[in-house]
Amino acid sequence: MRLEDTLNKILIVDFGSQFTQLIARKIRELGIYCEIVSHKKIEKFTKFEKNIKGIVLSGGPLNVYESKKVKFNNKILKLGVPVLGICFGHQIISKAMGGSVRSSKHREFGLAEVKESKKSKLTKNFFSKGKNNVWMSHADQVTKLPKNFKIIAQSINSKMCIIENVEKKMFGIQFHPEVSHTIKGKLILKNFIFSICKLTKNWSSRDQKKKLINEVRNSVGNSKVICALSGGVDSSVVAKLLSNAIGKKLTCIFVNTGLLRKDEEKQVVNTFKKRFKINLIYVNAENLFLSKLKNVSDPEKKRKIIGNLFIKIFEKYANKIENVKFLAQGTLYPDLIESKSVTGSQTSKIKSHHNVGGLPKKMKLKLIEPLKYLFKDEVRKLGLELGLSNEIISRHPFPGPGLAIRMPGIITKEKIKILKEADNYFIKSLKDNNLYDKIWQAYAALLPVKTVGVMGDNRTYEYLCLLRAITSEDGMTADFFQFNKSFMQSISNQIVNNIRGINRVVYDVTSKPPSTIELE
Ligand code: XMP
Repeated sequence: MRLEDTLNKILIVDFGSQFTQLIARKIRELGIYCEIVSHKKIEKFTKFEKNIKGIVLSGGPLNVYESKKVKFNNKILKLGVPVLGICFGHQIISKAMGGSVRSSKHREFGLAEVKESKKSKLTKNFFSKGKNNVWMSHADQVTKLPKNFKIIAQSINSKMCIIENVEKKMFGIQFHPEVSHTIKGKLILKNFIFSICKLTKNWSSRDQKKKLINEVRNSVGNSKVICALSGGVDSSVVAKLLSNAIGKKLTCIFVNTGLLRKDEEKQVVNTFKKRFKINLIYVNAENLFLSKLKNVSDPEKKRKIIGNLFIKIFEKYANKIENVKFLAQGTLYPDLIESKSVTGSQTSKIKSHHNVGGLPKKMKLKLIEPLKYLFKDEVRKLGLELGLSNEIISRHPFPGPGLAIRMPGIITKEKIKILKEADNYFIKSLKDNNLYDKIWQAYAALLPVKTVGVMGDNRTYEYLCLLRAITSEDGMTADFFQFNKSFMQSISNQIVNNIRGINRVVYDVTSKPPSTIELE
């Protein structure tokens, strides 16, 4: 039996809201295990299950009054466990319990003020002086209060903004407590979980570690597992977790493409082979990658060449290991949700850069994805719990094609060397100035342009270095980071004075969109 099946949990019914994952994240941050299930797949949860201690109905883009679109199984409201409806979920509860929902005359998107009408366990300490600012995102509203429900709070455009039926343990909120713009929004989830559902904390990185190690042991048995180690956060955590679980039955393959950050390969070998004593095959394929990329400047061609060659090399080394049945991957919960395998909702496809995704089919390997129920911040905590260093755990994301896509134009050994140095100066400066952890991703790029400069009494004609540093939540949108002048001056001086080949530094001040984070 999976350990999750023995844990008390909150079930989140997803109606396709862009914030559903945030609800799950907030609940897990509160130390409670929860699962997301699509509203289309709630059939199996309509019978009383003792581990489900509370249900949250998410928001969503649908209308409750167009009944054909929403075939919601009301049985889930009758399990006797507390239910919290958020936005669309609030409207679902209202309609199911005999209220009415109509299109609003005034739609509310963004910040709104709500006023307390009545005290409730759900909103304990939420209001200050009877008011609070919350984040709304709705075009419909509850227009008739369901029978035996009471109004807890109202906004100008939503008279039934928070409602409850204490006896039936049902609560509805028109705004979104899960988003950070709702002041003290997490408190509502906290009150729901601890005071109303009466749960006690059951979800910590230590519990997760034990649970995952057991699971891996059970599913792997006596077989062997291979893992493509890149040195990034996810694959590092997977490798260490598997090593703790199955020791020498794990083999990691690390391919040095020559396009990594300065000394990255040394760090990986030192950490995983020397320190953790993990079976690690180190493949130095620098020259091979360089020769295949010779004179290639088209970004898509670069990506394809690198991706294909990586798979070929990985396959060659993996095939040498006998009795391999599993390929370990660092798939995370958001990836599953995006690829709709968890919730069945219609959102975007998994990103193409899950580099070894094509392998299991070809190599007839089963996938083992121990992190697939975790969010990135949970993976980081788990990594620390497993003894990985803060340096590895808090590393900025790095793309599979590496420096190749931070060097528009053709790739040469000389350019790679210059770029590694520039990037290293930049990242080191960020760390020295306590800026690294405030930035989501930062890197240096080498532009295929030479410009004139003057150093001493000599004319120089050298490359242009571009620096990019962004803030972001998830890499889907981003804004450039605002450095102060002295930092910019200092990093520009360091790069130009110390690296032969660069005589000018520029800073990228575009957001995403319209730009992307990487240059290619
Ligand atoms: P863009 O440039 O699309 O990048 O705004 C968004 C995030 O994805 C990373 N990225 C990649 N990661 N393989 C990867 O593993 C890739 O091919 C790839 N392309 C972009 C990028 O670094 C940023 O974090």
